[in-house]
Amino acid sequence: MQRRTGLRREGNNMVDMSVKIGKLKLKNPVMAGSGTFGTEYGELLDIKKMGAYVAKTITMRPRTGNPPPRVAETPSGMLNSIGLENKGAEYFLKETLTGIKKFDIPVIVSIAGDDAAEFAELAKRLDKVRGVDAIELNLSCPNIRYGARSHLIAQCDKATAKVVKKVRKATGKTLIAKLSPNVTDITRIAKSAEDAGADALTVANTYLGMAVDIDTKRPMLGNVTGGLSGPAIKPLSLRMVYQVYKAVKIPIIGSGGIMDWKDAVEFILCGASALQIGTATFVNPSASIEIASGIIAYLRKNKIGSVSKLTGTVKI
Ligand SMILES: Cc1cc2nc3c(=O)[nH]c(=O)nc-3n(C[C@H](O)[C@H](O)[C@H](O)COP(=O)(O)O)c2cc1C
Repeated sequence: MQRRTGLRREGNNMVDMSVKIGKLKLKNPVMAGSGTFGTEYGELLDIKKMGAYVAKTITMRPRTGNPPPRVAETPSGMLNSIGLENKGAEYFLKETLTGIKKFDIPVIVSIAGDDAAEFAELAKRLDKVRGVDAIELNLSCPNIRYGARSHLIAQCDKATAKVVKKVRKATGKTLIAKLSPNVTDITRIAKSAEDAGADALTVANTYLGMAVDIDTKRPMLGNVTGGLSGPAIKPLSLRMVYQVYKAVKIPIIGSGGIMDWKDAVEFILCGASALQIGTATFVNPSASIEIASGIIAYLRKNKIGSVSKLTGTVKI
């Protein structure tokens, strides 16, 4: 199961951690997941050591998000129903992006829209912006419903293809489609995104879940349901990365319950070229950087010259 992500020459004792995602060259494959990281973390860790900066999802116009409470702890995971609260594209480009660019690492901007036209409008707006290196399409936020059928875009192969195709026409930047795990067969959606022109896939977003306070008899989240992340979802997301790797040729960014470097290595073995760390950062702000160091140590110990050589090498 070996292919893609060819890369820089290996040094003698050096381990090559660089990976290529579309046109995007990352010096290492570890980044924080959209919505789980902010520039304020710069006070706690050296963000420059991360492979890329993935910004929280933005929409064309500001969104107020879902009613509180928006976060609830569960055994082995957390539920969130933020609902894509953000100040809109213009604010992001004028204010937030300036702060992000200071870290001098590739910037991936996550976008969402009500329909394909809005996704494309936003992608077009970002296309000419220097400092935006790639666009991640959030087709999979479980707290948002699109259209009359009230499903997630990434729950329908045709809707996924429609959005990716329209955005592909609007931008030449690296295009990553973030898929939903809340589906019966993720490979079908993955293939439709690849056929429509996505350069890479993020597999996957959070799982729709719920928790109830038995004293008040009320849901723990103001939105009633929310997205489950953290250790609870790791085996599920890992399985999806494995399935998607066999179904498509474009690189996969693994996301879902990666808490330490061992989890990260499992994702790479099953087909991930890069990784997004979310909930682990809430426990340990330096999680991404420590995970990258752990992968380097694993590669050295196993005499593997480059991380890209590890991708998809699980022995079945
Ligand atoms: C509080 C919170 C906010 C999130 N916001 C976004 C978001 O704005 N856009 C997005 O694509 N994913 C968002 N996610 C999903 C994460 O990027 C990630 O895909 C998911 O949490 C699974 O990874 P994890 O188990 O490592 O957290 C959010 C997750 C959490 C926990």
